[in-house]
Amino acid sequence: MNAVNIGLLGLGTVGQGTATILARNAEEITRRAGVPIRVAGAVVRDVAKAEAWTAAAGLSFPITTDGDALINDPDIQIVCELAGGEEPAHRWTRAALEAGKHVVTANKALIATHGNELLALARDKRVSLRFEPAVAGGIPVIKALSEGLAANRIEWLAGIINGTGNFILSEMASRGRDFADVLAEAQSLGYAEADPTFDVEGIDAAHKLAILGAIAFDTPIDFDSLCIEGISGITGVDVAFAEQLGYRIKHLGVARRREHGVELRVHPALIPMKRLLANVDGVMNAVVIHGDAVGSTLHYGAGAGAEATGSAVVADLVDLARGGSEPISLPSTVPDKRAALEPGDFSCPFYLRLEVTDQPGVMAAVAAIFGTLEISIEAILQKEPAAHEDTTVPLILLTRTVTEARVRDAITQLEALEDIVSPVVLLRVETLD
Ligand code: HSE
Repeated sequence: MNAVNIGLLGLGTVGQGTATILARNAEEITRRAGVPIRVAGAVVRDVAKAEAWTAAAGLSFPITTDGDALINDPDIQIVCELAGGEEPAHRWTRAALEAGKHVVTANKALIATHGNELLALARDKRVSLRFEPAVAGGIPVIKALSEGLAANRIEWLAGIINGTGNFILSEMASRGRDFADVLAEAQSLGYAEADPTFDVEGIDAAHKLAILGAIAFDTPIDFDSLCIEGISGITGVDVAFAEQLGYRIKHLGVARRREHGVELRVHPALIPMKRLLANVDGVMNAVVIHGDAVGSTLHYGAGAGAEATGSAVVADLVDLARGGSEPISLPSTVPDKRAALEPGDFSCPFYLRLEVTDQPGVMAAVAAIFGTLEISIEAILQKEPAAHEDTTVPLILLTRTVTEARVRDAITQLEALEDIVSPVVLLRVETLD
């Protein structure tokens, strides 16, 4: 039985997870793929360090620093781009497709920003470009959207798709831990991106949502149209107030079909505690996909880590080794009605936290602004001063559904009041209806 030979561009967290799984589960993988899948080489920056790892793991394959040689090796049929980042990942992926090799990549930034061009090249060259490991680690969510749910008109999807961010928010909520301390732990566990601002500022989740949105709504990948906010502004105070109101703060990616376009946004959101997504904790990811025929389906699992992501790489390899045809085919133009919505156009309930002077008349002034703008209030929570001598108190408001543009008008007017002593904190509420 001939083997399928693969080359690994990168032998970091995901590369090591992939090589480990291929060795440990070789028997099952060979049976499922119909042929053995063999690592025929890896490209790294530090050969000695990589060789120390393979020796310790009991693995043996050639390791070099020459990406072009591996890509052009006639014995290698599939190239796994597991280096991450912009370059040389982009050049290598193009070169591999040009050379007629199938490519599996875990690089969400690459697919989110160059996916249209690379998929077109793959089509031209009659090879496959697969990226299951790029989104939600080990959860087969690309396969679910493009195959299992292919009968459906997808109405919306919402997910926790950054494990590091979810780990940080979960630890802040359950153990009152400090943001920076939890981030350092996520980095040491190999969850965080090389540049962790990608995790905490929402960029990593945005890359993944751009990919999911394109597949769900049959559009080209359009990263630039996303509304992106991260979790770096979330404080323990808001986490605690949200809990008191019956919500958990999660970093969500939401893609929703609207009458006049597609809404794509990643940001922290208050989710009612009774929702399953509100109870997804730690590094776990989960994506709810709502199709017109099937209703809501929940896809849950480890969103980062060596073997979780390696599991998705190997799944794509098995598919390709079986001779799987390209399942991802995106149109090259966006029909007008599918144009991305402006962020101000979308509506939801909002959470606002105001720090106000503790004196009569303040509540009336605040209420007058909401009344004039016809923003309906769902709940108000006023807390006692944190310390006896404090002259200000937090005031928390939950609005009913309103456009973001209108709530931002209200914030402008609120911040002009003398009795509002610091910038208003604004968070969206996602009820997942
Ligand atoms: N940094 C990413 C995360 C890794 O935390 O989810 C997986 O894409």
